[in-house]
Amino acid sequence: MKICCIGAGYVGGPTMAMIAYKCPDIQVTVVDVISEKIDAWNSEDLPVFEPGLYDVVKEARGRNLFFSADRQKAIKEADIIFVSVGTPTKSYGAGAGRAADLVYVENSAREIAEWAESSKIVVEKSTIPVRTAESLKTVLHANTKPGIRFDVLSNPEFLAEGTAVEDLNDPDRVLVGGEATPEGQKAIETLASVYANWIPREKIITTNLWSSELSKLVANAFLAQRISSINSISALCEATGANVDEVSYAIGQDSRIGPKFLKPSVGFGGSCFQKDLLNLVYLCEHFGLPDVARYWQGVIDINDWQKRRFSHNIVQSLFNTVNGKRIAMLGFAFKKDTNDTRESAAIYVGRDLLEEQAQLAIFDPKVRSEQIFRDLKHSETDENGNKNQQIEICQHPYEATKGAHALAVLTEWDSFKDLDYERIFREMYKPAFIFDGRNILDHAKLREIGFTVTAIGR
Ligand code: NAD
Ligand code: UGA
Repeated sequence: MKICCIGAGYVGGPTMAMIAYKCPDIQVTVVDVISEKIDAWNSEDLPVFEPGLYDVVKEARGRNLFFSADRQKAIKEADIIFVSVGTPTKSYGAGAGRAADLVYVENSAREIAEWAESSKIVVEKSTIPVRTAESLKTVLHANTKPGIRFDVLSNPEFLAEGTAVEDLNDPDRVLVGGEATPEGQKAIETLASVYANWIPREKIITTNLWSSELSKLVANAFLAQRISSINSISALCEATGANVDEVSYAIGQDSRIGPKFLKPSVGFGGSCFQKDLLNLVYLCEHFGLPDVARYWQGVIDINDWQKRRFSHNIVQSLFNTVNGKRIAMLGFAFKKDTNDTRESAAIYVGRDLLEEQAQLAIFDPKVRSEQIFRDLKHSETDENGNKNQQIEICQHPYEATKGAHALAVLTEWDSFKDLDYERIFREMYKPAFIFDGRNILDHAKLREIGFTVTAIGR
């Protein structure tokens, strides 16, 4: 059996590496339009940072895992084609700012139809709106050569960044949606048998296409909703003297609620929660359900509010002005153990502070400086080649905190817990402020050292 995956990103790369690792008899080729990305996947310096990923790739690469820029060859040879391209929020035309942009999915379908010389199972791995399989089928069938058949399946991915290898190795479930026809059921079984190489059958759920597509959006919406719920309560805790971590623990002990995804924060980020919620809101409106749309929009609104609340709090605490003040930002990724910054809360906090004329000194152990400048919409140098005066990217946390008026923790990297805070205090302006956007530091100890500490929901 041969598999091709279109899109060598955060999902396509790790997912296919795991399939190849677990199924040595299946040849897996991952292709991308960006040839530099393919080169990186073939190097020691993978384009995606995930704990444990390099070992999985190293074991399978060259054996039965290949990264290639030759899309046509890989598509021609494959029996199963995964479509794992981006589905960002549309930034133009109808549905701008809410609907999913399906241009990359459609381009992939057109390429498959054009280059295929035999029947294929086409698998939607990307997260897409409900009933996208219908459009995909229409594009494929309208361009099919005689004698060729395409079976479309939905197989959404539930991995979280930072734990992708763990999640792929031992997922809570794998979801495969397909048509109720005999051919559809055969295609479902073919894909399920690939996963059954390492995942127990009872964890492989099969549904109809639309349930599978919708389940993906709903899973992300429910997860994001829990974070917005606890973040909304964090503000109430601050107002009343309750401690949000204690509240979170107390409610999480109820087995009906459960302890996961109740960690208060500066706001959720990542490429998917906001995008998928916006998409769900758009779908509800499209299907004439404005009340349902409003309900889910509230999850996004609270998240935006929480991010803004954090930066306002910094400005307010620093005597209502951060103009010219150095603020050390520890962490820029949207969560720990990833180099991904998409929709990171740090971007929004950073932009707010820049607008208030602060000087940012940013340290993140995995994010490259070019990425940070791009996200903050600033250039590294001006037209004369002089360094940006407002943003400094630091190689070490102590470099960022030296001479700072305030330190803000934006990502929960474990290494931030064990810094020498006595030294940091000595080297900062006084009063020295800490804003812990992830509640990971030992606040009592920091207060003993002399810091003025502000946490989330305490
Ligand atoms: P990504 O941007 O990292 O990767 C997508 C890749 O597809 C890019 O490298 C792009 O160059 C490539 N591409 C686009 N058009 C192509 C074409 N015609 N041929 C070949 N390559 C093409 O995106 P991602 O984070 O991997 O997400 C992909 C999908 O998976 C999205 O729909 C996302 O919602 C979903 N998803 C993401 C995650 C996650 O953790 N990032 C988890 C679950 C689901
Ligand atoms: C999320 C889902 O967890 C995955 O199941 C899904 O496949 C993926 O989206 C997707 O569709 O892309 P991801 O965004 O990679 O995964 O990471 P999460 O662990 O969900 O974290 C998302 C954001 O929420 C991060 O900014 C994180 O710091 C924040 N978060 C998470 C909290 O603020 N509190 C929590 O309790 C949990």
